[in-house]
Amino acid sequence: MRVAIMGGNGQLGQDVSSAFAAAGHTITSLTHEDVEISSLDSVRTALVASQPELVVNTAAFHNVDKCEAEPGLAFAINGIGARNLAQVTEETGATLMHVSTDYVFDGKKGAPYVEEDVPAPLNVYGNTKLSGEFFVRSTNPRHFVVRTSAIYGENPCRAKGGLNFVELMLKLSKERKELRVVDDEFVTPTPTVQIAQQLVALSMSPDYGLYHATAEGSCSWYEFAGAIFELTKTNIRLEPARPGEFPAKVPRPRYSVLENAALKARTMNIFSHWKEGLQEYLARREARLS
Ligand SMILES: NC(=O)c1ccc[n+]([C@@H]2O[C@H](COP(=O)([O-])OP(=O)(O)OC[C@H]3O[C@@H](n4cnc5c(N)ncnc54)[C@H](OP(=O)(O)O)[C@@H]3O)[C@@H](O)[C@H]2O)c1
Repeated sequence: MRVAIMGGNGQLGQDVSSAFAAAGHTITSLTHEDVEISSLDSVRTALVASQPELVVNTAAFHNVDKCEAEPGLAFAINGIGARNLAQVTEETGATLMHVSTDYVFDGKKGAPYVEEDVPAPLNVYGNTKLSGEFFVRSTNPRHFVVRTSAIYGENPCRAKGGLNFVELMLKLSKERKELRVVDDEFVTPTPTVQIAQQLVALSMSPDYGLYHATAEGSCSWYEFAGAIFELTKTNIRLEPARPGEFPAKVPRPRYSVLENAALKARTMNIFSHWKEGLQEYLARREARLS
């Protein structure tokens, strides 16, 4: 297939490009310099030039605090941007694979969310990403909307200053003797390499629709930090943060764990437990640095 990747130089976009290329597809990796997804004209020009049969959209405005401060811009990119991609792919007969987020949920369920659960976002980021999902689902019937959670990869996250959570913890461990990390927000840390492999596998399926795609299991950020230090044998005093010690400026779901129910129902789930994914990430990291 001819595959175009939006956000091609992003943390996830780079792994998605590599995974589709490794599977033998012809890749057009489009950066923000090549295309402005909030502009229908720009999307049309980019896609007419590359003629993709599949478009994978990893582009987004996803800094939660900045989205709250700039809701118009967040909607233009996460909502209208997704609509533009859906409209042009619908017109050209292409399939759209659109990446979304666990932040479409309010976290009050207290058990892993399945695809049928009703979203109720708590902040502008979640609301605008949900609007993007609705635009995609109502505009192009050939769609995969794929929600994921707490992603980290070898390539820097452009929206978050380049350091993913693992790298941030390892950097802080060199600067401090003690670290306090929030223990009341539960997620599933998910490596971008696994998401990319899952997207390749899903793209072969005729079963369009909404999918949850995260690693297995769940943990608090404190537990995630603990696993990072344990696996890297880092000597640091790690403590759970006291309630209210790091008040979030913007409300976030306390428990946004996703269950890959739709993938499992179709025996397509490729994800391992989050701790295994972390172990593999750290092994690749060590090999790269040595
Ligand atoms: N990070 C997480 O923990 C997390 C969790 C769940 C879901 N997600 C979702 O995962 C996806 C990928 O995240 P990521 O970590 O790979 O992000 P990233 O590294 O920040 O990459 C996002 C890419 O989108 C591009 N982009 C931003 N605005 C654009 C626009 N208006 N038009 C065209 N391109 C634009 C960025 O280019 P510039 O940097 O040049 O602007 C960048 O290349 C997003 O859809 C996000 O909502 C992320």
